[in-house]
Amino acid sequence: MASLWRKYILWFAQEHVDFRISEFESIVKMFGLQFRRLTEQTLKPFWVVEFPNVETAMLYASRSVALRAMFELYAHSRKLPEFHERLRAHVDANRNELAKYFRQDTSFKITVETYNKHFSQREKIEKIETMDYLPIEGPVNLKSPQVEWWYIEFWGLDPTAVPEEPDDILFGRLLATGQRNLIKELSLKQRKFIGNTSMDAQLSLLMANQAMVREGDLVFDPFVGTGSLLVSAAKWGGYVLGADIDYMMVHARCRPSRITQKVREKDESIRANLLQYGCADRYMDVVVADFSNPLWHPRISFDSIITDPPYGIREATEKVETKRSPKDIARTDDMVHYPSTSHYSLQNLYGDLLEFAARHLKLGGRLVCWLPFHREDYDPKMLPQHQYLQLVANSEQPLTGNTSRRLLTYEKCSEYSALNPASIGSTQVPTPSEDFRERYFNNALESRKERRMRKAEQREQGRLEMELRGKLPSDGRSQKCELNKARFTGLT
Ligand SMILES: C[S@@+](CC[C@H](N)C(=O)[O-])C[C@H]1O[C@@H](n2cnc3c(N)ncnc32)[C@H](O)[C@@H]1O
Repeated sequence: MASLWRKYILWFAQEHVDFRISEFESIVKMFGLQFRRLTEQTLKPFWVVEFPNVETAMLYASRSVALRAMFELYAHSRKLPEFHERLRAHVDANRNELAKYFRQDTSFKITVETYNKHFSQREKIEKIETMDYLPIEGPVNLKSPQVEWWYIEFWGLDPTAVPEEPDDILFGRLLATGQRNLIKELSLKQRKFIGNTSMDAQLSLLMANQAMVREGDLVFDPFVGTGSLLVSAAKWGGYVLGADIDYMMVHARCRPSRITQKVREKDESIRANLLQYGCADRYMDVVVADFSNPLWHPRISFDSIITDPPYGIREATEKVETKRSPKDIARTDDMVHYPSTSHYSLQNLYGDLLEFAARHLKLGGRLVCWLPFHREDYDPKMLPQHQYLQLVANSEQPLTGNTSRRLLTYEKCSEYSALNPASIGSTQVPTPSEDFRERYFNNALESRKERRMRKAEQREQGRLEMELRGKLPSDGRSQKCELNKARFTGLT
């Protein structure tokens, strides 16, 4: 590939913004792409990036789910007069190369995109007219133009503090769109087999990108559920394998989660999902297995492990009791063993997960998993660590109230050695997240209590104000107020 460093505009969707930079870094690492990122503020939806050639740029766009579209940059400035000067200069300097886009037989369209400030259609046309120096000779075609140019104005991120002048003015030729069409294609709404905790298509695709799933990789999800993460991994060319403790889930016999559905259809399965998306040939198998009692041969190794372990909110965190676990005081070796389940603390679960990944990932392979948090408790020191795994990305997705979850990406950085005494007990889960479930529900109760107190306080305030204005509440109301007052003082 000839090296001809050029500037490109990357236009990102303003959704899951915290995942953007990690996805970018994963894709460039996966394909070994060279780049220079000229935009420092990664929260901006428009970045200017240099790639050594157009093939490199296209490779990046062929995998990004965060990317809306990519343009070849013609001009960029913060000031309008300078922007026009630069656009003119670019067109003059590249006259021969750009001539094919301006030809009489080449239809075109110019789109005006503004961020954080609304402009009417008339105003947008006026903006286009300011570029009448462009030597365009072809006809306008708004439906299917042969060449598409975009004029972009970025008016900051804060809708309450829109600046006087745009922060960025950009112009470029559309080169490619990102892979956001897959979000619709793999949407849970039309998927054959889904459950309460199925991961949505966008996050599943982002996870598979974090895991750098490549054509022919072997990918494993130990908490597979309905197999959403297998779908995205298979879509990127991975051969997929899953396990789950829940027999009914693995066999798609669990209660349907769609309101309109009373019973599961006979042909619902994880395999049927892959078939639906044209990647049934990537399906290896799914097995019923308890992750706390690993069944995998020590020699099996995966290119990546992508998983969403249970947090105990919508599904139980449980494991199967074994004869060797604490309950065996009541049993003897010769007794028949009927497995029962017991609580699988999040701390033990993540400990096991990192240890499993350290043993079974190929060198350089990735573990991508979610970890739930109470936002006020979060401290990076709390993240699980393992001496053979390096944390390479950590993105937050806010959930309800003050809870959130973090998508953690670990990369196996050295070969696991069972003979190395230092590797024994090398997983550290410093602060237990095990009380997540308890805190989740208790917090909900606490906030209800707080809300009751706030309301009572407001009512009391209102009553005092009425009294001050000489408007005493009617008998019935004053009785109620008295009651509330008593309740309120009782609570404090
Ligand atoms: C959050 S769900 C995974 C959802 C899945 N990503 C999907 O898209 O459907 C967690 C899954 O872990 C399973 N699970 C819970 N404890 C387990 C254990 N000890 N071993 C294996 N799977 C377990 C649950 O049955 C549940 O299906």
